[in-house]
Amino acid sequence: MKLQNRLERTEEYAPAEDTYFLEDHIKNEKGNAALDVGTGSGYLAKSLSKSFSFVVTTDISFNILKNQTYKTKNIVCCNGADALSFNFDLVVCNLPYLETDEILDIATDGGKDGIEIPIKIIKSASKCVRPGGKFLFVTSSLSNHARLMELTTQEGFEVKILAKKKLFFEELILVEARKK
Ligand SMILES: C[S@@+](CC[C@H](N)C(=O)[O-])C[C@H]1O[C@@H](n2cnc3c(N)ncnc32)[C@H](O)[C@@H]1O
Repeated sequence: MKLQNRLERTEEYAPAEDTYFLEDHIKNEKGNAALDVGTGSGYLAKSLSKSFSFVVTTDISFNILKNQTYKTKNIVCCNGADALSFNFDLVVCNLPYLETDEILDIATDGGKDGIEIPIKIIKSASKCVRPGGKFLFVTSSLSNHARLMELTTQEGFEVKILAKKKLFFEELILVEARKK
């Protein structure tokens, strides 16, 4: 059952508060090339395609990518951005950030301190951000976001909190990491 959840999640993560929170901050960004890591439904990629001429998406789940609600053109099934070798102006990711002992739901579970999967994604995607380019990601007060920001700095970024949004049981945190 666990293996099935992990490898064969068929239902995409429907756009939610965290998706819209990130969208609010990416709709004013402009450039040539953008990457949406963990694209799920493709909602954010659709939004990026309004202001970027070249948009690439990745997701670890092949089943989700096959049945996306918001179909996009340049789709790669891989962990983070492992299969890519390109310098993007902007990389975005609505991270799976819940603190969990195991990864049972790849859409939401972040592992230990809610940062085990996020740091793997950030390490993988950091090589795809051009110098001076931005990586915007969403994390939460439910995770050890301070540690995640520290680890992101070690990947060669200048890191700051761009915005916060209070929800009923958590605070969403939008982090801007600028590649040095
Ligand atoms: C919180 S959902 C966000 C989905 C969509 N981007 C949104 O904002 O609505 C996280 C997404 O990341 C994907 N994901 C989880 N771990 C991943 C990894 N290691 N590499 C790539 N994608 C991953 C999940 O399959 C899921 O679609």
